Amino acid sequence: MKILLVAGARPNFMKIAPIVRALKPRSVHGLVWKIVHTGQHYDYEMSQTFFDELEIPEPDFFLEAGSGSHAEQTAKIMVAFEKVCQDEKPDIVVVVGDVNSTLACSVVAKKLMIKVAHVEAGLRSFDLSMPEEINRMVTDTLSDYFFVTEKSGIDNLLKEGKPKKKIHFVGHVMIDNLFYQLDRLNHQDPSQLSIYDLKKNLEKYAFLTLHRPSNVDDRATLADIATALNEISDKVPIVFPIHPRTKKMLKSFDIKLSQNIHLLEPLGFRESLFLWKDAIMVMTDSGGLQEETTALGIPCFTIRENTERPITIEEGTNTLVGNSSKGILEAFKKFEQGSRKEGKVPELWDGKASERIVDVLVNVKETL
Ligand code: UD1
Repeated sequence: MKILLVAGARPNFMKIAPIVRALKPRSVHGLVWKIVHTGQHYDYEMSQTFFDELEIPEPDFFLEAGSGSHAEQTAKIMVAFEKVCQDEKPDIVVVVGDVNSTLACSVVAKKLMIKVAHVEAGLRSFDLSMPEEINRMVTDTLSDYFFVTEKSGIDNLLKEGKPKKKIHFVGHVMIDNLFYQLDRLNHQDPSQLSIYDLKKNLEKYAFLTLHRPSNVDDRATLADIATALNEISDKVPIVFPIHPRTKKMLKSFDIKLSQNIHLLEPLGFRESLFLWKDAIMVMTDSGGLQEETTALGIPCFTIRENTERPITIEEGTNTLVGNSSKGILEAFKKFEQGSRKEGKVPELWDGKASERIVDVLVNVKETL
């Protein structure tokens, strides 16, 4: 059986790394797998550094899609991936997450009658203004195998009429990667990390990531969020590795951040983990960090109106604070006054999701 494993953007790399680790020992049983990097993310800090640090082998195919409008980016990936599929004739294409590469490659594979397996299937924000929601919905419409991270994913897929036997509740590959990297970090000399001195010099700090178009592409919204962040940073310094999109938008809108907000270039996975795991709180609009903070019990304030990962709210340490300064500041005030969510780690977030996925994929062989 031949599998093509697709990754394109930063959050995909964390998700394929543990799958690759689980696939490696199975290769001897007639399982062939190859990695396709679409090139959606391409800067060294957004791509290569993750391949190195997360121990992902060099991709077998690099599609060089690059940036562009959604249509341009998706189309470039589709044209290049179709050729790879025609040449390689895989039995299954495995896509992860909800980025444009996920949608592009699942459409191409399905039209070539290749089975599609979606890792992180079934999540729904029910907010179609989010490009990721469209990517999730289209990918799940086409997928043959659904690997689900949390119960809401099962419910959503069943409501959408997916057959129960194709839905596999396996836990979360993102958490497999987190636990693996945390262990690596604990066995490493932290003074080798570039942000070691910064952390050492901060008695306490908050950690921030921000990159969603709905937060950073509109001047008034970004300015309002910046007002809240500047005010919070008067009380607690904020460490902020900045996404290229956000950097570009802050500059073009001429929005100034306080000196108490420590701006960093995008960080590798381990450096980022080294910082946020000891932060007093995390503020983010990322999908993955909502889940990772829940897994490690760190308070997380999500700068969004909704989340496709409700278990992080229901069981974890996540709180939705919206994307206005009012909501962000109210949440921070409560936090300052000592309000904390008692979180627990969701079911099957145990570091073994990739093993479960590979077990299913190996057995799929019989049904192909
Ligand atoms: C993409 C995903 C988003 C994910 C995020 C993580 C989609 C629709 N969005 O958003 O779900 O949370 O990745 O980072 O797939 N850029 C660079 N260097 C790079 C890559 C991008 O400078 O290596 C800049 C470019 O100006 C580009 C912009 O970032 O236009 C946006 O990149 P893109 O991949 O389109 O979307 P992200 O905002 O990164």
